[in-house]
Amino acid sequence: MTRYFGVLLVLFACGQIDSLEAPARTFAIDYEHNCFRKDGMQFRYISGSIHYSRIPRFYWKDRLVKMKMAGLDAIYTYVPWNFHEQKPGVYNFSGDHDIVSFLQLANEIGLLVILRAGPYICAEWDMGGLPAWLLAKKSIVLRSSDPDYLQAVDSWMGVFLPKIKPLLYQNGGPIITVQVENEFGSYYTCDYNYLRHLLKLFRYYLGNDVVLFTTDGSGLPYVKCGSIQGLYTTVDFGPGANTPYAPQPTSYDYDAPLSEAGDLTDKYFAIRDVIKKIYFQYKQIPEGPVPPTTPKFAYGEINLEKVNSVLEALDVLAPYGSIKSAYPLTFDEIKQYFGFVLYRTKLPETYSDPALLTTFINGIRDRAYVAVNGVTQGILERDKVMSINITGIEGSQLDLLVESMGRVNFGRFNNDFKGLLTNVTIKGRTLANWTMYPLDIDTAVINGLLSKTSGLNTCNFTAPTFYKGELIIPSGIPDLPQDTFIKFTGWAKVCYLFIF
Ligand SMILES: *[C@@H]1O[C@H](CO)[C@@H](O)[C@H](O)[C@H]1NC(C)=O
Ligand SMILES: *[C@@H]1O[C@H](CO)[C@@H](O)[C@H](O)[C@H]1NC(C)=O
Ligand SMILES: *[C@@H]1O[C@H](CO)[C@@H](O)[C@H](O)[C@H]1NC(C)=O
Ligand SMILES: *[C@@H]1O[C@H](CO)[C@@H](O)[C@H](O)[C@H]1NC(C)=O
Ligand SMILES: *[C@@H]1O[C@H](CO)[C@@H](O)[C@H](O)[C@H]1NC(C)=O
Repeated sequence: MTRYFGVLLVLFACGQIDSLEAPARTFAIDYEHNCFRKDGMQFRYISGSIHYSRIPRFYWKDRLVKMKMAGLDAIYTYVPWNFHEQKPGVYNFSGDHDIVSFLQLANEIGLLVILRAGPYICAEWDMGGLPAWLLAKKSIVLRSSDPDYLQAVDSWMGVFLPKIKPLLYQNGGPIITVQVENEFGSYYTCDYNYLRHLLKLFRYYLGNDVVLFTTDGSGLPYVKCGSIQGLYTTVDFGPGANTPYAPQPTSYDYDAPLSEAGDLTDKYFAIRDVIKKIYFQYKQIPEGPVPPTTPKFAYGEINLEKVNSVLEALDVLAPYGSIKSAYPLTFDEIKQYFGFVLYRTKLPETYSDPALLTTFINGIRDRAYVAVNGVTQGILERDKVMSINITGIEGSQLDLLVESMGRVNFGRFNNDFKGLLTNVTIKGRTLANWTMYPLDIDTAVINGLLSKTSGLNTCNFTAPTFYKGELIIPSGIPDLPQDTFIKFTGWAKVCYLFIF
């Protein structure tokens, strides 16, 4: 949620100049004079949003310098918990996940940081940044005082917060404020004890000097549940929801001044001009050229040839084998948090006439490609297509390849379990004796394990299939390789494609 119409958030027009003496490197709120104070001096800032987790590390510097050159004083960035702790207790803070280096880079470039540390962030990010493995406890109440939830939060923050403590402003780093939770006032639990717990936790690891704050939708009811004493309250701008289930691309680019591809837009220059105008009495915006729009290259047409279908490649895609269960298990129960699981069983009798294959409401999360003996029958889709007709003889192999299309990132339906959540019936009869194959597509693709088979070189429009094409980087042209966009003319989602 939180759709910022443009990245700028102007906080606090300050009161009169005050000559309070203060030690160097402090950042505080002066409630009496209604302003921020940095190193004792009244201070105001203009900040813009950037998500390190959505940008390859290679481009961090380019994007931050562009933001600096626009005249911004500060950036604010979200920390997606599930980006750093993909399995319980297994952390990644290196490569594209190296938030410490990102923050140091911002510091070197001269940008202050407003850190939106979670644990929940929303951010149009899978499950709002909460790790799906929390759902291992089916009844867990996320974003509340649920002891299992708090325990997971405590372990995560116990690893994460000590890493950022040296990067707080008073310790020589760029972080001036740290946000606790996100838009909690919009969430149904309204659990003050949870916010109090977080406040204590953040204070324990970060000390008493850092300004902690909450952010909520603008409107009193939101602020009521979203804030407590001891946390500075702010609001953000803009509406919007994603239930009933409507998958959205993982993007935050709502017509951003600096596009996700690193392009400078007219809006970027307009904002720079405005900052120049309103700021001239305080400071100059940085001199020198703005780094150019990230260069792109058109590589021409790429021919795609069929490699093999998911069913053909099953042994490679499911290297750890399968799980058996009388009735379907969810993705979360078999610890597969993203992607696909193949659910397989047998037809219990012969259906020569079309027989209705049915799931119950909300049973398919989120989409299932149905095949009998490898022959595609149709697609079931969450809340939309709950039944299709199929035919086949007794003992035929029935496959439901179920896809997760991303977890709800906002609101009370955050507990978004994936897979088959209910039984599946055929002509009213409950299907049993399922074999489930969790697919590890990334590993198969990275290791080049998918090989060409002699299948039809056409798209079947329902059988998910891998295609392969080669992009040639021409020689003799300087500065290649460069970024590009890929356009799939005539392709649609039903014709599945992975790029490797
Ligand atoms: C962490 O993520 C990077 C990509 O940013 C990856 O290259 C690396 O293998 C990951 N490390 C671990 C321990 O998973
Ligand atoms: C299934 O087939 C029956 C009989 O042909 C038909 O009446 C019904 O509308 C079909 N249902 C669906 C969901 O296609
Ligand atoms: C599936 O059906 C079986 C047998 O009727 C029942 O015991 C089980 O609870 C059902 N599972 C779900 C998720 O409804
Ligand atoms: C499941 O498999 C067992 C053993 O193969 C069999 O006895 C049972 O009838 C099957 N159940 C269903 C509902 O097909
Ligand atoms: C494509 O789907 C049709 C049914 O829609 C089926 O008859 C055909 O065998 C499928 N071809 C392949 C290669 O899966």
